[in-house]
Amino acid sequence: MSSFPRVRLRRLRGSAALRGLARETRLSASDFIYPIFVTHGRDVRNEIDPMPGIYQLSLDHLITEVGEVESLGIPAVLLFGIPAKKDAEGTEAYETNGILQEAIRVIKQTAPDLLVIGDVCLCEYTDHGHCGVIENETVDNDKTLELLAKMAVCQADAGADIVAPSAMMDGQVGAIRAALDSYGYENLPIMAYSAKYASGFYGPFRVAADSTPQFGDRNGYQMDPANVQQAMREIEQDIEEGADIVMVKPALSYLDVIATAKKKFGYPMAAYNVSGEYSMVKAAAENEWIDGQRITMEILTSIKRAGADMIISYHAKEMARWLAV
Ligand code: PBG
Repeated sequence: MSSFPRVRLRRLRGSAALRGLARETRLSASDFIYPIFVTHGRDVRNEIDPMPGIYQLSLDHLITEVGEVESLGIPAVLLFGIPAKKDAEGTEAYETNGILQEAIRVIKQTAPDLLVIGDVCLCEYTDHGHCGVIENETVDNDKTLELLAKMAVCQADAGADIVAPSAMMDGQVGAIRAALDSYGYENLPIMAYSAKYASGFYGPFRVAADSTPQFGDRNGYQMDPANVQQAMREIEQDIEEGADIVMVKPALSYLDVIATAKKKFGYPMAAYNVSGEYSMVKAAAENEWIDGQRITMEILTSIKRAGADMIISYHAKEMARWLAV
């Protein structure tokens, strides 16, 4: 390697145009997936306290929301449902007229080209707040698989374009793939939350979805934040079971996991810029301790630079607006 003074790396930083030519990572509205919380009722638009700008929306408001998302050039939404009733088995998750299924139908009628991704997990629907059914004070893996498979098929019946299992049950991708195939949905892709960590960064989401576990925690099924080798095993297993897209979640504290996985598998990769990551930026920006727009762009660029092909983010709409100017 030849070096200074022949090599001067500053030469390509001298103007905005030069920096633009040399830029390695570019964000576009088409990189983003926008999460939406849907709820029963009419004219409901509850702002989520720790997530300024993010709302629980009833179906009438959902129509306006998806119109806006589509006009901003964002290709997909990820839906979370807040049920009318919660019970031990999360029944509303797999009822034909459950809130998530109704929301999918509404979107497919009003914005048929927008991709609709359904979150497949029971925690928003169970009264105990865990991601599956409880047996002997723990989440029973194999019983939960049956319900997750049912939930995925129910979302497919409603018109979902992609299903996204996030319960961190072993075998969930395989079980869902088999169920979808047996109902004729062999072309419906699965976006697997493969490396989903037991993270404090989900705190604001649990307020939004009212899904805080009523006892214990999720450490028995979500991953230990200290592990990266194990994340590769989770991803490898999901790919073997038929995942079409694999995900790392959260994103910002796990950029190394994203980068390692992208290099190792070369597979379509999603990263979830989760609620806590959003809330921290919003809170600091509101205090004028940081420049919110600048920091958001930097964070999202880093997630793409690490290797994510698509980013699920509550910032998606504002990002699309910033990118358009
Ligand atoms: C469902 C689910 C969670 C999130 C996405 N899907 C919550 C959890 O596991 O507690 C979190 C997303 C976010 O924090 O933005 N299991």
